[in-house]
Amino acid sequence: MTNIYSNIKKLNSKIQFKVIHLLKNDGLVALPTETVYGLAGNAYSRKAVNKIFKIKNRPRINPIIVHYSSFKDASKDVFFPKEFLRLYRSFCPGPITFILKKKKYSNLNKLTTAGLESVAIRFPKHKVLRKILNKINFPLAMPSANKSGKVSPTCAEHVSNQFGKKIMVIDGGNSKVGLESTVVDLTSGISILRPGIINSSQIQKIVGKKIIYKKSKKIRSPGNLINHYSPGIPIKLNVKKAEKNSAFITIGKKFKKNKDVYNLSEKSNLEEAAKNLYKTLITIKKKKYKKISVVKIPNIGVGIAINDRLKRAAAK
Ligand code: TXA
Ligand code: MG
Repeated sequence: MTNIYSNIKKLNSKIQFKVIHLLKNDGLVALPTETVYGLAGNAYSRKAVNKIFKIKNRPRINPIIVHYSSFKDASKDVFFPKEFLRLYRSFCPGPITFILKKKKYSNLNKLTTAGLESVAIRFPKHKVLRKILNKINFPLAMPSANKSGKVSPTCAEHVSNQFGKKIMVIDGGNSKVGLESTVVDLTSGISILRPGIINSSQIQKIVGKKIIYKKSKKIRSPGNLINHYSPGIPIKLNVKKAEKNSAFITIGKKFKKNKDVYNLSEKSNLEEAAKNLYKTLITIKKKKYKKISVVKIPNIGVGIAINDRLKRAAAK
């Protein structure tokens, strides 16, 4: 069953049945989320989670986010500190992930959490995914649907380009956010491990405390240590003008259009830029450029998350 490729716009009952059947039988399916596409399997099943690690070539020290339909479902597996419920009410379902302490009798497979005492949980918003989550009685382990270290997919085609016909892909359109969820660690105090569209000042407002962005020297978020989001060609950041023979990523109206210029948002809208970033990196790579130059992106709001991903993509 797992080598079916299906690309659909709406989840009709026949396809829905197929997806649920696959997931119940330890199979994997690529599903749309509002952030990026994910590669889903039963988070309680060793067999399913093992398949995720294998097909992504993901280091087994890197735990996977567990996706639930509501906090009631998650209460079997994790403890909720009071800040969690406040943040949940403000932002969920939506593009935010919480690191919480795992319950001793949780059914989550050890592979899912890479043997840690904590779990990353998320409540995604995409309608298609919510429909599936509401019809199964287990949560979904779901990393971004790309090979480890590569750029995350923001449309169904980018998933199938990476995995071919091995994985069934459910097409839910272009991802609205285009960057992975904000990861907030609530296991001791509150800190942000990965910036996203929900930013620190929004979180600060809800919890009434100053939030720090933790640069992970310790292995708090193992995925953050790995060279990520690489389009496979050198990237130079904060340039004032494009280098020769390079694709030029810009924002705003300041730079003249030409075939080598890829504008993330002419209106200088950072949300639009975030939505276009991964797609642009993938397009540039496909066009066989040898390098990429990127102008300075304002480091405010979601610009912080854009710069985080660009820095990782540029790291050698
Ligand atoms: O938007 C998203 O979060 C997407 C969609 C598909 O939901 N998923 C995603 O998953 O980005 P992934 O596996 O690509 O990134 C998960 C990040 C990794 O950096 C991982 O190390 C971190 O979350 N993580 C997972 N469990 C953790 C834990 N217990 N403690 C600290 N970090 C954790
Ligand atoms: Mg990822």
